[in-house]
Amino acid sequence: MCGIIGCAGHEGDTVPVLLNGLARLEYRGYDSTGLAVSNSDIHVVKREGELDELVETVESEIEVDGVAGVGHTRWSTHGKPSDANAHPHTDCENRVAVVHNGIIENYQSLRDDLRSLGHEFESNTDTEVIPHLVGHYLDAGSSPKAAFHRAVEKLEGSYAIAAVFESRKEVMATRQDSSLVLGVGDEATYVASDMTALIERTDSVIHLDDGEFAFLSPDGYTIIDEDGERQSKAQTTIEWDVEEITKGHHDHYMIKEIYEQSAALRECLRNRSTTDRLISLDTFDDYHSVDRVHLVACGTSYHAALFGAQMLRERGVSAQAFLASEYAMTPAPVQDGTLVVGVTQSGETADTLAALRAADERGARTLALTNVVGSSAARECDEALYIRSGPEISVAATKTFASQLVTLTLFALHSSSTESNHETRRLVSALDELPGQIQRLFDTTTAGEIASRLADGSGYFFIGRGLQYPVALEGALKMKEITYEHAEGFAAGELKHGPLALVTDETPVFVSAVGDNETVRKTVANAEEVKARGAPLVAITDGTSSIERLADEVLRVPSTSRELAPVLVNVQYQLLAYHTARHLGRKIDKPRNLAKSVTVE
Ligand code: G6P
Repeated sequence: MCGIIGCAGHEGDTVPVLLNGLARLEYRGYDSTGLAVSNSDIHVVKREGELDELVETVESEIEVDGVAGVGHTRWSTHGKPSDANAHPHTDCENRVAVVHNGIIENYQSLRDDLRSLGHEFESNTDTEVIPHLVGHYLDAGSSPKAAFHRAVEKLEGSYAIAAVFESRKEVMATRQDSSLVLGVGDEATYVASDMTALIERTDSVIHLDDGEFAFLSPDGYTIIDEDGERQSKAQTTIEWDVEEITKGHHDHYMIKEIYEQSAALRECLRNRSTTDRLISLDTFDDYHSVDRVHLVACGTSYHAALFGAQMLRERGVSAQAFLASEYAMTPAPVQDGTLVVGVTQSGETADTLAALRAADERGARTLALTNVVGSSAARECDEALYIRSGPEISVAATKTFASQLVTLTLFALHSSSTESNHETRRLVSALDELPGQIQRLFDTTTAGEIASRLADGSGYFFIGRGLQYPVALEGALKMKEITYEHAEGFAAGELKHGPLALVTDETPVFVSAVGDNETVRKTVANAEEVKARGAPLVAITDGTSSIERLADEVLRVPSTSRELAPVLVNVQYQLLAYHTARHLGRKIDKPRNLAKSVTVE
């Protein structure tokens, strides 16, 4: 949700590190930002709005400098975006400044207690109780470290916290159910919500676990567990490049990441099928005794999960996709042989983690299908299978969705006991061709022109059947996320059972009809129903079905297997959403009200 960063380095460098880190974390939230640096006293600067506002203020206040500092970019939960609600928050005497990601569930009672002790609050946030609690223990004679520890002991909920104290060249940090990574540099130590904020400074990181405390100084760090025992944890090397987290020559991360899909899929497929066309899933080769699969996920990942469940069912495996937020509340019964797969790009989505924990409590075997090595999902599940997309910065997921679909295809092939060698060979050779086909699609697409012709629609509908249904949902989600226009996806056969009432000559309908089989012919019949109501019809097709005779606009995709066509159709949908949003002048990488990593339930 929010992004936090801390640095214990040296004067002149700490503030640039914080501002640069916040720029990398902005995708986690961007309604207000702030930082605090510690010298003999603490200097806090915070602003409602995006990072530029903060940079401008910091630049005009030349005395903002110090060895230790913390920064924050916010996605509001408690209290609207404002200067006062922005982090960092301090105690009454400005002795400690705190940044926080997560939710303090017992904040109201803590706040009442602290108020009765004379503490005055300046914000509506749950976070502000933390510095006041620390202040309370400082007043009681605790050292800063002990006060920090005692304050954290009082908190219920989820948190990643970093704090600086007056007159100390140190950052203190801890976590519970919220990600936090330590970065180890030559002359500085860092802490951040995720490693993208650190890549430009160090490639050496340590993932903190729940309940651990880290104390960072310019020349090192100490980690202790909740019992105060010192921990020596292995450092891991980040394999992502700096170039991967910059926009390059592109106007937006989103279009850069759309174009990166060929390379991402090559990486996803690397060494996962052998010359005799057998699937090998490095970290998940042991498919023993799996009788049924539950896939739990949110947002775009849920659409990938729907696709994955269908791919598994087509291969004789009992499989079902669940919205993680629902599954966490009412988990489906788990028997021996149930595998619960968390499909999550970030590996940090609170709803998905809660669903996986509920499954684990019921004794299910769990698998994280994720992009981020060392993420909470990867570490908490029994096993992890990586989609290998590289970092995705734009809030709207694009290349990670393609990599999820392909990884789930490999997973379904791998898990199927009924698949013939011939079938596996057919799909593996289609997979091999997919990256090149995506590249060719970029060279020929007319999505930009179609988007500008249809950008004044009063709503957008996306329809598809079978494996194209999840992609219809995803096409609509992408459209609404970044254009703020009404868009819905439907199973094509369901349109006539209600949604058809919404179809008019002002509602373009996008229909995917690739190949020419029974399912596609039924989809074409549904397109006829739309056409009869006067809606502009956009067909996404490889040219083999009869859909083109109906269509007002056509977007071509290369011919591929039925199973992989959704990947290609989706690339056209991503481009349509991107160009429509551009035409409407929307903020593409940081859409209104959204955040990429949603770490609250
Ligand atoms: C947020 C993002 C979505 C994303 C969803 C799941 O809602 O805005 O784009 O699909 O989280 O994220 P995950 O990291 O679990 O795939």
